[in-house]
Amino acid sequence: MDRQQVVLHMNPGMGDNSYANNSIIQNKVMRKAKPIVEESIVRLYTIIPIRCFKVADLGCSSGPNALQLVSNVIDIVDCSSSNLNLKPPVFQFFLNDLFGNDFNSIFKSLPQFLESLEENKGHKFDPCFINATPGTFYRRLFPNDSLHFVHSSFSLHWLSQAPKELVNKKNIHLTSTSPPAMHRAYREQFQKDFKVFLKLRSQEVVGGGGMVLTLFGRDKTCDIRTAWTIIGTILNDMVLEVHTQVYYINSFFLCIFLFC
Ligand SMILES: C[S@@+](CC[C@H](N)C(=O)[O-])C[C@H]1O[C@@H](n2cnc3c(N)ncnc32)[C@H](O)[C@@H]1O
Repeated sequence: MDRQQVVLHMNPGMGDNSYANNSIIQNKVMRKAKPIVEESIVRLYTIIPIRCFKVADLGCSSGPNALQLVSNVIDIVDCSSSNLNLKPPVFQFFLNDLFGNDFNSIFKSLPQFLESLEENKGHKFDPCFINATPGTFYRRLFPNDSLHFVHSSFSLHWLSQAPKELVNKKNIHLTSTSPPAMHRAYREQFQKDFKVFLKLRSQEVVGGGGMVLTLFGRDKTCDIRTAWTIIGTILNDMVLEVHTQVYYINSFFLCIFLFC
């Protein structure tokens, strides 16, 4: 397994620099995509009889966003059940991220989260099972035909690995000044990874199930300027001061691709 899949993680805990306290944009993205999630769930809920609704959030990270999907799905299904005059199903959520993810923070926030769910839903609330599924979404994570709905937000721009054999002395990731070969290499790696991702999920999702994927992309006309560009510049400046590390920066590439 690629080392990145083992060591990569967002900043853990609840401190000032934690992912939990620095993920407002990602939260906005999830809220904006909620109507699409709703459309997908309502469609499948009306065609598949479901007693235990099984949902996976791939690349859930930690902090409030990790449980945002759980709330959204419960609200949507609750509302659909009332409209269709059905008894709401039991829920089982699988929160997935890489092995280094701060799952413990999510577990610690569960008692309060479940308590507020019970308060809000009252007597209508059936058990809600929340499980962690550590591992890379570029490999199988679930048994065949075991999920009704798969969600992933702001995560699929992380590739399984940076394209191999890149040489780029200026940047640690794609920018508008990167050579065409580097653009091609990243695009091909993304296509390869995305194909693998879809093939694996097609085995795991039941027939008629749903999937909503929200990806971090870019406008074709825009310069690719992200925080990573700034970090790349800083790293290069540091290398100029400490010459012995030139080799490392020249062979380091971020495994992120923003498609357009
Ligand atoms: C920017 S965070 C988004 C988290 C959350 N979905 C949100 O909207 O706030 C991206 C997450 O994807 C996870 N990730 C990256 N590559 C992954 C992989 N191959 N398998 C599972 N998770 C991955 C990272 O560890 C990280 O927690």
